[in-house]
Order: sequence, then structure tokens, then C-alpha cells
Amino acid sequence: MSSVLSMTPTELHTFLYGVGLGVAVAAVSSTLLFSLPRAVVSSQSQAPKKSPRKRSALKRGASAAANAVEVAEEANAETVARLRGMFSLPADRLQQIVKQILVDMKKGLEKDGAANIKMLPTHVTRRPSGKEKGTYLALDLGGTNFRVCEIILDGAGGSTMHQSKFVIDEAAKTGDGTALFDFIADCVKAFLGEYHKDQDVEAVKWKLGFTFSFPVDQWTINSGSLLIWTKGFTATNVVGKDVVALLKSAFERKNLNIDVTALVNDTTGTLMSLAYSKPDTYVGVILGTGSNCAYVEKIENVIKYKGPREGVKEMLINMEWGGFDDDMVVIPRNKYDLKLDRESANPGSYTFEQLISGMYLGEIVRLVLVDLVKTGELFSYSAGGSPELRTKYAFETAYMSRIERDYSYQLMETKTILEEHLNIPETTLADRKLVKAICEMVGLRSARLAAAGVAAVVTKINKLGAPGVTVGIDGSLFLLYPHYQNRMRDALREIVGISAENILLEKSQDGSGTGAALIACLAGK
Ligand code: BGC
Repeated sequence: MSSVLSMTPTELHTFLYGVGLGVAVAAVSSTLLFSLPRAVVSSQSQAPKKSPRKRSALKRGASAAANAVEVAEEANAETVARLRGMFSLPADRLQQIVKQILVDMKKGLEKDGAANIKMLPTHVTRRPSGKEKGTYLALDLGGTNFRVCEIILDGAGGSTMHQSKFVIDEAAKTGDGTALFDFIADCVKAFLGEYHKDQDVEAVKWKLGFTFSFPVDQWTINSGSLLIWTKGFTATNVVGKDVVALLKSAFERKNLNIDVTALVNDTTGTLMSLAYSKPDTYVGVILGTGSNCAYVEKIENVIKYKGPREGVKEMLINMEWGGFDDDMVVIPRNKYDLKLDRESANPGSYTFEQLISGMYLGEIVRLVLVDLVKTGELFSYSAGGSPELRTKYAFETAYMSRIERDYSYQLMETKTILEEHLNIPETTLADRKLVKAICEMVGLRSARLAAAGVAAVVTKINKLGAPGVTVGIDGSLFLLYPHYQNRMRDALREIVGISAENILLEKSQDGSGTGAALIACLAGK
């Protein structure tokens, strides 16, 4: 999971700086107002021969800079309309998507492998009462960073936490699985060494909740095997193995005496963490690096569950909705979505997540930009764009966030990103408007799909009516991406009408820490 807490300082800075810079740029933009026509005019002589924009601008003469911009904007209007057709999801399509999610949810609860949505039983059969108390360790693997946390549950719905974040480099994500788990154990040792200097850390028996935010076929509350890696992880010798056993072995190798009492998905943690203080929370959603949802299901509906049922009324289900529509029947895909999938670590898998989550949105935008450069519709004064623009995943989702927040007259923040971060030699205002429009389309589609997922789950648990339900949500898109929450709310209204008023979308921060501690606590009872 990626949340504000789990962002690297650079990411956090990028998001926050975007806001501050927007203000600063607005202040200086008036002095820059006149620099753009000059740039357009002087660029004309360097424009590639093939550019239709260059030809039309040249016809009007070099002095007609303002006209050139207008012409470019007209040309862009066609481009924008074409792209909108590729990315838009009208209300009736969203409703079809909701219906299909409901069909898949039912099938997934009946039998493993029966639907694209895995509907994994979590073995969490109780929500917190608010009275849970104690000190727990929690690990959070699956977002941008790896985190080690120590959480003190106060027994009154509150908690305190301290944490250390560690950057997981590509080598750890994609190398040998044993090395990944050794890295985790080393981080835990470093954390304990820092926060428990005066204690003999090897002598204490710690209790730990392991938030492992990947699809796991969970056998018990603290065991289960990885079904498939997502979010760019590919470490070897982990798929098919019990990840808790791998963790325990690594702890043993490092002489750490830690009892892993719960294996947790970040969505489950997110739900539990908010439910600790808000008992009407029945759904937990992550909209961050990856995307997924967990919710509370009646045990009689979890037909495939083979564990003990006595005294059990409900169970949290980890939907793994990232895999929805992998057979591509209901969500329209365009050539950029298909290319992104083809070039991903696991083609054909988790394609819903690819349309929603922070790991992929920037890359979709980049693929569109590269294509428009080829057709001469974008950056025609910087033929070919730049090597950075042609580099996979170089257009970060955080850039989209900054661009969508750029309301300066000349789109100066967008200019900075394109010209300084992506090294495109020269951009026109029309270019920047087009890039902004593309970011909006991709960001909007993500929020609307997320809303469709929420609408389906709330419908499934019969909570559309009063008094309603709280949906706990974590992840950088929901917390930080401009307009994301309102776009979700608008889409919910389009899908379920006035009942949307009964769905409260609420931030639930740090499910991977507090939620994991709660589950570890409940598991120990
Ligand atoms: C994983 C889920 C996780 C989600 C959000 C997905 O890639 O498969 O288990 O909940 O990301 O972190």
C-alpha cells in the first residue's frame, strides 16, 4: 500500500511541492505571459517538416504567434475529442461494470478460480470492539516502501505508533526471494535496535502482524501462500510458498524471537483500522500503488471456505479486485491500455488494477504522449520528444497530480515537469493544455472505476439504504490526487443515484500498521 505515511520523502515532497509551486508560479506567471508567443515564433523554424501544426502556422507567417497557438488548440480539440472517446466511461457503462463485478463476486465466493476476482477468505471473523489493547509490531510490504511499525493500542479506539521506512530497491523486489526476506528481517532488527536500545531484543517475545499486500491463499490467520506477485515484484521462490514460514525462517537466521500472529492484506487492515473507532465500517479500499478492496461478508455466503464455521457469523473477504475483467469483456480498453498490459511484468493479469492504480497511471499517460509525438500532434517543436519521455515509467503518477493541480494561466508547473523533468526541449501552451487534458482523462477514469468497485461492494452487502455504511480508504490517489474524491463521489451518484448519500468515503490511514496490530491482537485471543 502506498499512503502519505509510506511515501518516500521525495514523493511526498513532489505531491506537496506541487501545491506550493502552483501558488508561486501563479504569482510569477504574469511576468512570463509574453515569453510564450516568442517561444512559439522562434520555434517554428526548428519544427520538423512533417508537422501539420508547423505547416499551418508557417502559412500564417512568423509574427502570428497568437494565431499559431489558436491553430494548435484547434488541432488539439480533435485530438482531445478522439482521446476522450477512448478513455471515457459513461454512467451506463459503469452500471454494467457494477453488474459484472457482482456476478464475479458471487462466483468467486463459491469456488476458487471461478472468477477473475479471487474473493479470498482472510480468516478474520471479527471486527474490533474498540477495546483491544496491547503493543504489537507490524510490517508493511507491498507499497513504495517497506515499513516496520510498533503500535500501542490504547483499548479505547485509539493508538500510537512509531515507524521506520526502508526503501526496497529493484534488486530486492525482483531478485532472490530469500534475500528479500533477509532484507525484511534486517530492517526489523535495525528498528528494534533503534527503538529498544536498552532491551535485549533477542530475549523479548514480540508479537507481529505481517501486512503482505499481495494475493495470498490464506490457510489460517497466520499462514498462506502467495498466488502471484503484483505491482512489479517478481522475487523468485516465493510464489506458492507460505510467506509467514519464509518470514519466520529469516527471523531465525537473524536470531529474532518474533511470533507472527497474523498475516494481513492492506485492505483488511484498512477496514479494521477505521472500524476500531467507527463500527459502521464494512469496506476497506486501497487506492495507491496498487488497488484492492476487502469487505465484511456473511459466512454463509463464503461457500468455498473450508475452515471452522462454529460461532462464526462473518468473515472479511480480500477481493483482489485488481484481477477484475482480465478477460476484458466489460471495460473498454484502448491501445494504450493494451500496450501497458503487454509490457507489464505479468501480462493479462491484474488489468483492472492497471487502469486504476498509481503504479500505472503515469505510464498510461506516457504511452499516449509518445504516440502523439509520433503522429505530430504533440511537441512538434521538439521533434521526437526526449529520451526521458521514451523511457518506460519515466512519467510518474505524481507528475499527473501536479499537472492536474496546475491552474496557472500559462500552465507553468506543467512546463517545468515537461521541460525540466522530462527534458522536452520546448513546449507550447497548446502542448501543455493537451498534456493536462490527458492527465485528466486518465485520472478521471481511475476514480470512476474505483467508484464502480465501491458501488458493487456496497450493493452486495445491502447497505445502499439508510443508515448507510462507511468505506475506509487509504492510498496516495485517494489522499492526495486532486479531485479524486469528488470524482468518485460524482460517479457513485451516477451509478446508484441518491443512495450515494448513504456511502461515506472516509480516509482510513495506516491500516497496514494499526489494522495489522488489531488483527494480531484479535488473533491472539
Ligand atoms: C495486491 C493486493 C493489494 C493491493 C493494494 C495489489 O496489487 O494484489 O493484495 O491489496 O495491491 O496494495
